[in-house]
Amino acid sequence: METRRVIYPVLYKSAHIVTITLAAFIVFTAKPGSSLFSWHPTLMAITFLFLTFEAVLVIDSDHSPLVGSSRSTQILFHQIINISSFASAMCGFVAIYYHKDISGYEHFKTWHGTMGVITLVIHFLQIIGGTITKYRYPYVQKLLNLKLNGLDLKIFHSSFGLLLYAVVWLTITCAMFSSWFSEYVTGIWWSICILSAVFLAIVSMHQILLFFILFVQIRIAEMFINGFVAIMRQLFFKTNKSSLKSK
Ligand code: HEM
Repeated sequence: METRRVIYPVLYKSAHIVTITLAAFIVFTAKPGSSLFSWHPTLMAITFLFLTFEAVLVIDSDHSPLVGSSRSTQILFHQIINISSFASAMCGFVAIYYHKDISGYEHFKTWHGTMGVITLVIHFLQIIGGTITKYRYPYVQKLLNLKLNGLDLKIFHSSFGLLLYAVVWLTITCAMFSSWFSEYVTGIWWSICILSAVFLAIVSMHQILLFFILFVQIRIAEMFINGFVAIMRQLFFKTNKSSLKSK
């Protein structure tokens, strides 16, 4: 309890400062507009260090910048920020793809490039999953003979979020080993960037993990309550039947 009250707010506030500073540092290093390539680090930093990070914070009831607003408003903002982040990531991808085409480089030859594509695919699936979690689409579920309730979908959405964040941080860390980044950012600054990425990875995954644990706890409680109700019902019917027979 004490940890939640004292350490978490400090941790989240520092993560906020670190993520914005790191994004600003990458944008500053890339000098957006100086070349087609410059848009790739710029847009990816804005997408994954700012937008997706804020999208998770916005729905955190304790640390949301929209604290005090209704849950549906927070979820609406979560959805809008995530959809915009996907559009921004796509533009960042197109920029690097065309830059490599024009420069005659081969595609997806590095760990960063390969992890990057995986990240973009998981990001897309997560947006689709989030939309399904929000609207549930009962008609489609009926058509596919599925019976997923809101809680199941939330558990799935947060587990996939964990996976997304794991690949995002791997991709960003690999980017810091790219020849472009290690040419412009050296020495202590490079080490600070890597440490910041590791710190942000821990905080963001911890935050999503808390959501996941909460949903799983509710699911377990729901199963216990359902089991208890079923047992009570059976006991009640049995006693009722036997009392009717004895009459
Ligand atoms: C999670 C965010 C990111 C994703 C999804 C991503 C995705 C990608 C992809 C898919 C490629 C390969 C494109 C191709 O081969 O046609 C690539 C290349 C590249 N990216 Fe990123 N990127 C991200 C963040 C960054 C950041 C923050 C930087 C700079 C610090 C960066 C620097 C580079 C560089 C220098 C290349 C060219 C060299 C290479 O292919 O490894 N990227 N990125």
